[in-house]
Amino acid sequence: MQIEVPREFERLGAVRIYGLQKVYELDAGPAMTEPGRDDAIVRSLPAEAIYEVQREMAIVVPVRSERLKLIEGVLVGIPNPCLVIVVSNSPREPIDRHFLEQDSIADFCRFSRKQIMVVHQKDPVVAAAFAAGGYGDVLDDLGLVRDGKAEGMMIGTVLAKMLGKRYVGFVDSDNYFPGAVNEYVREYAAGFLLNGGKDTVVRISWHSKPKIVEQSLFFAKWGRSSRRCNRALNQLLSHYTGFETEIVKTGNAGEHAISLDLAMSMRYATGYSVEPYHYIDLLEQYGGVFPTEHGDMRRLVRICQIESRNPHLHADKGDAHVAEMIIGSLATIYHSRLCPASLQKKIDAELRQGGYLKDGETLPPVRIYPSLAGLAMDRFAASAQEIVDRRLGAPPLARPMVS
Ligand code: GDP
Ligand code: CO
Repeated sequence: MQIEVPREFERLGAVRIYGLQKVYELDAGPAMTEPGRDDAIVRSLPAEAIYEVQREMAIVVPVRSERLKLIEGVLVGIPNPCLVIVVSNSPREPIDRHFLEQDSIADFCRFSRKQIMVVHQKDPVVAAAFAAGGYGDVLDDLGLVRDGKAEGMMIGTVLAKMLGKRYVGFVDSDNYFPGAVNEYVREYAAGFLLNGGKDTVVRISWHSKPKIVEQSLFFAKWGRSSRRCNRALNQLLSHYTGFETEIVKTGNAGEHAISLDLAMSMRYATGYSVEPYHYIDLLEQYGGVFPTEHGDMRRLVRICQIESRNPHLHADKGDAHVAEMIIGSLATIYHSRLCPASLQKKIDAELRQGGYLKDGETLPPVRIYPSLAGLAMDRFAASAQEIVDRRLGAPPLARPMVS
């Protein structure tokens, strides 16, 4: 891949947020004999180096009631070296949709000769593994893992850790373009390569989102939710740095990847608030604003933002879903201890003006999970081995899947 080096960054304490990076070639070919120049503004990352990173990467695909054709397309797009973990929260009654998913993924495995881990979010084995590891926070009154995309992502993250991976990346299962998925996963690897792989978050900003406007295709840049979320995060940063900024472009990015050790030490917000909350958690823990309760400040945390070239087209979930995203993402910022009263006022006014908050209502806080560092991995792993053993697909021809 050929990719621009970031032109600028904003720093708060030990967190660096890099400016958006453009991609100039999706595949830069094999390593050149001439070494690349370190001072180049566009870096060429050989295909082998990208694959090396992907070999240490798990890709988690969260699913809830998506069409089987879409899920299959996403699986087709994931580069071969990655370990794939599908975490589904699709209903099992009255129709067992999860059974249909397993059946269709098993078919995919048969044809592609790949192995894929498929886990159901409500599988009592998963819940028992969290309980055994002493992390009951994700469990509900019935003792099962709670609903929500974030909760599914947490399951995937812990399984990736258990299987010895170094990186975990996420791709939504409702993507219409396998080529876009393939691009995201390359970009994850590129982001880790450029930043040394440690304590790094790579977030994708879609180049465009096609929609039909007045009977022709229009390539929109920003969605209704991402525009608001990015603005509020930038205002939060500006409050602490004293300089107005537009650096954050990926507040809502569902497509992102994290160094696994960092992912295990981050807190997660429930449901769709998970993505913007990553920024909040890193700034709270490593921004140096609350010196007495921070994470390990010797860490240099890098957030790298890459602009993908493929248009992003996913299933349209309607206006109510967008409203839920707007409220959920702004709530994580509003309720952060970092949020100054002036920004709280702005967020509140914006939500009222947009009709997202009615008179007499206040913005409810979102559920925050403690970091997974408190989970005893050895005990989780002992209970969860059964899930790993249940993976779908024939053993690969040459290469063992579980390293
Ligand atoms: P958007 O793309 O961010 O607007 O939201 P989506 O509704 O498309 O959700 C993003 C991804 O998370 C999709 O792949 C969904 O199928 C998946 N998802 C949504 N809710 C859940 C859940 O409760 N558990 C799991 N495991 N995945 C979910
Ligand atoms: Co979607």
